[in-house]
Amino acid sequence: MGCFFCGGSNKNSQRNSSRESKKPNHCTGADKVKVDLNVNGNKEATSKDDQLSQDVKNLNLKEASNDGAVHGYREKTFTFDELAAATGNFRSDCFLGEGGFGKVYKGHLDKINQVVAIKQLDPNGCQGVREFVVEVLTLSLADHPNLVKLIGFCGEGEQRLLVYEYMPLGSLENHLHDLPPGRKAIDWNTRMKIAAGAARGLEYLHDKMKPPVIYRDLKCSNILLGEGYHPKLSDFGLAKVGPSGDKTHVSTRVMGTYGYCAPDYAMTGQLTFKSDIYSFGVVLLELITGRKAIDHKKSAREQNLVAWARPLFKDRRKFPQMVDPLLEGQYPVRGLYQVLAIAAMCVQEQPNMRPVIADVVTALNYLASQKYDPQTQPGQSCKGSPPSPRHVGNGTQTDRQM
Ligand SMILES: Nc1ncnc2c1ncn2[C@@H]1O[C@H](COP(=O)(O)OP(=O)(O)OP(=O)(O)O)[C@@H](O)[C@H]1O
Ligand SMILES: [Mg+2]
Repeated sequence: MGCFFCGGSNKNSQRNSSRESKKPNHCTGADKVKVDLNVNGNKEATSKDDQLSQDVKNLNLKEASNDGAVHGYREKTFTFDELAAATGNFRSDCFLGEGGFGKVYKGHLDKINQVVAIKQLDPNGCQGVREFVVEVLTLSLADHPNLVKLIGFCGEGEQRLLVYEYMPLGSLENHLHDLPPGRKAIDWNTRMKIAAGAARGLEYLHDKMKPPVIYRDLKCSNILLGEGYHPKLSDFGLAKVGPSGDKTHVSTRVMGTYGYCAPDYAMTGQLTFKSDIYSFGVVLLELITGRKAIDHKKSAREQNLVAWARPLFKDRRKFPQMVDPLLEGQYPVRGLYQVLAIAAMCVQEQPNMRPVIADVVTALNYLASQKYDPQTQPGQSCKGSPPSPRHVGNGTQTDRQM
């Protein structure tokens, strides 16, 4: 979809099976809604790059002074040459994908003998030094099995690169939408496991971090998968420290991804923890239905996943129609009802009607523990589910259509 900020439409090239990089027209992969609503005169500073550069330098100094243990600061700094060497000079066959920040490459860092993913800031992209600094700061404070690990960064000269642990199964988006021929859809148990793990990552940000953090960018492409489909949340460049004291919201420019952004936040610019819960509900719906948050290839009535799902939530008999046809009826009816109930609560219009993340975690941990066995619980009839066109042709499908 188009980047609101640039006003351009962009096709994302990373789903190309050859994994070749194409130069983006605008902000590639940037389904970011960068709209300054200026609803209450509260503008997030947009031109403080000098200050931010200073912050980056300070981060470097922190490590150089070798007081990491005191500050709990774990990330390493790398030189640009080290990262170039790790990726064979950013060779196209090391290219993993591309988002609003820039291109992502797989590499091997000899210094630490580890396979890593290296994200290089595109100076013409939608994101900038601000996101780079917030990412480093957030991840240097965070430590949870469901958050991707930041190994280090490079802030040499104009260069801004982030070095993460490599997640071998890529993003959830790659496993739900536009599957390449031959790739099997993920099964029901795996979907519940991913949902529960992602919820635990979000719970850590909301309830365990000090100060608490609102993620602001929860979506399928930001849920990365490790061995055994272990999910980890990634991309914290838009994260915000949550409200303090009696306040229930922070006022900010509306940023996030179209289709995942809570309507209340989009309308008022008031960001709350419940904005993340809405985005989580959209991800849950994608996991259940296999549909995209926004799909311009569908008829107008079905383009927005939440708008399509809302009337169906009201009638249990319609629930089977909502299930991803690629599951071929292999899901537990009771489990489906329960997870749809959670999704419906998360995407409610009224933010105060949405559950808190701790309750979502409790419910999803339970659902994930109830293993569905297609042998003992035979598949449901797929009546009402149209045949799926979601497998793409021979590597030709490249756009994300979000
Ligand atoms: N740590 C990682 N390990 C393996 N693959 C990764 C890693 N980080 C990113 N990728 C790959 O790179 C792709 C692009 O990631 P990136 O976060 O830059 O963009 P995005 O999530 O698609 O969009 P956005 O910029 O809006 O977050 C991902 O979809 C994923 O396939
Ligand atoms: Mg991302």
